[in-house]
Amino acid sequence: MIKNGPYLALDTSYQKLSVDELFEAAAERLPEHFDGYRQQLCRGEYRNLSEDRPVTHVLSRSVHAVAKQSNRKTRFVETVQKLRSGRWLGATGKPITDVVNIGVGGSDLGPQMGAFALREFANDSAVHNLQVHFVSSMDGGQLYAVLPIVDPETTLFIISSKSFGTVDTFANVDTVRKWLEPALTQDQWLANHVVGVSANAQAMTDYGIPPAQQFTFGEGVGGRFSLWSALGLSIALTTGIRPFERMLEGAKAMDEHFLEAPLAENLPVLLALYGVYNREQLGINNLAILPYDGRLRMLPNYLQQLDMESNGKQATAVNKAIGYPTGPIIWGGFGPNGQHAFFQHLHQGYDEFTADFVAVLKREAPGFEKTVQDGLAEQQRLAVANCLAHRRLMWEGSENEASPSDHYPGGHPSNLLIMDELTPESFGALIAAYEHKVFTQGVIWNLNSFDQPGVEKGKKIALDVLRVLEGESDETFDESTDAIIKRMR
Ligand code: F6P
Repeated sequence: MIKNGPYLALDTSYQKLSVDELFEAAAERLPEHFDGYRQQLCRGEYRNLSEDRPVTHVLSRSVHAVAKQSNRKTRFVETVQKLRSGRWLGATGKPITDVVNIGVGGSDLGPQMGAFALREFANDSAVHNLQVHFVSSMDGGQLYAVLPIVDPETTLFIISSKSFGTVDTFANVDTVRKWLEPALTQDQWLANHVVGVSANAQAMTDYGIPPAQQFTFGEGVGGRFSLWSALGLSIALTTGIRPFERMLEGAKAMDEHFLEAPLAENLPVLLALYGVYNREQLGINNLAILPYDGRLRMLPNYLQQLDMESNGKQATAVNKAIGYPTGPIIWGGFGPNGQHAFFQHLHQGYDEFTADFVAVLKREAPGFEKTVQDGLAEQQRLAVANCLAHRRLMWEGSENEASPSDHYPGGHPSNLLIMDELTPESFGALIAAYEHKVFTQGVIWNLNSFDQPGVEKGKKIALDVLRVLEGESDETFDESTDAIIKRMR
């Protein structure tokens, strides 16, 4: 059945249970305190117990809202306008033409996805041809691609890091500093070519970033929930301020829906309960995210962090062992290309999966000749037809007893998330819906969705290994690890 939320609808017809049956089977998994918890979340009062801080990403959607004229907001807006109008000059007097966001995880995935999805909405009058690039990986592979196409004199780097201490990010920054040395002094770089976005103002100051080039957000905004905050600077630089604000407005409309809509009409709650049912009762351990609009093709990567870093846990919020499965493996890819890659396995392989299809029904193409506009509209219909067809085959299946190769088992449950059009508002609503789904599942599974101890542990072991590689320690690990270290040394 199709349920309408703000800017977004959800069709759950291809789930094993109707909404009524779901509420009979799974609603009791929603604890009594769920209502109190979601109110706390939306007021910024919900606690992240292990890190002893409130969870404030929902509040952060208001920080830049039109009505609030705080200094922070004004400086954010002024910076965006200055860069987009070509009034931000580099140290040698040339306007900045390129911006490189350096950050990883939540400091990369959300901003990159948002910038990519919404770049066509840029419509401010003073648009300057500003190119925004993203560099995240510690191996330098992305720097190899970006450095040759930018000029030190006309490039601004955004160091995006909630902690302002992530090794991956500063490995990239260190290389950038070496790269620009022939053209600029370090003082020139710091004064004109870098801004910092972080929850750690002191670390930005210690690094030498001038106060006017520091953008902060609250400790309570988790990295994977931060695209709404100052961390969304690279989105705003891509689109201009108004589309960024519209994105926040769409997310806020979804917040209200999450708080107020009856549970059986509530999109995030339905996504959460079907997910819990599929995980617990059907025993399916994975969810494929399949967007059918190229502008959303980074959604699977983003949701991997949002969901798996939040709910891939084996301990409760008060550190007791959990004896049941929690968040599923999130994977997927851009649907139209997936059809020519992994869909074969989905149609006829042996494995169980669930899927979220995301379809955008209509796309305007102003600015093109009429014939091209018609061609693009036709392509959007083609994509939607394929989305509906593959989703149907995965659910209905198709029998041909005489020919096993013409047999499609079907029965794979899926959701269809529908946007009439992709707009900043519908994009914001989509992402907020997933955030609230993840929160709801975390409450159901009684875990803390806002920490990531497994990742922190991995980072610590990496430092131990690096010390051995650098010859600073002779710790040993296991036969395989030690052999590779020996080979490298
Ligand atoms: O991967 C762990 C993690 O802490 C993520 O939660 C976070 O988004 C990412 O690293 C980057 O952290 P930071 O923004 O502090 O550089």
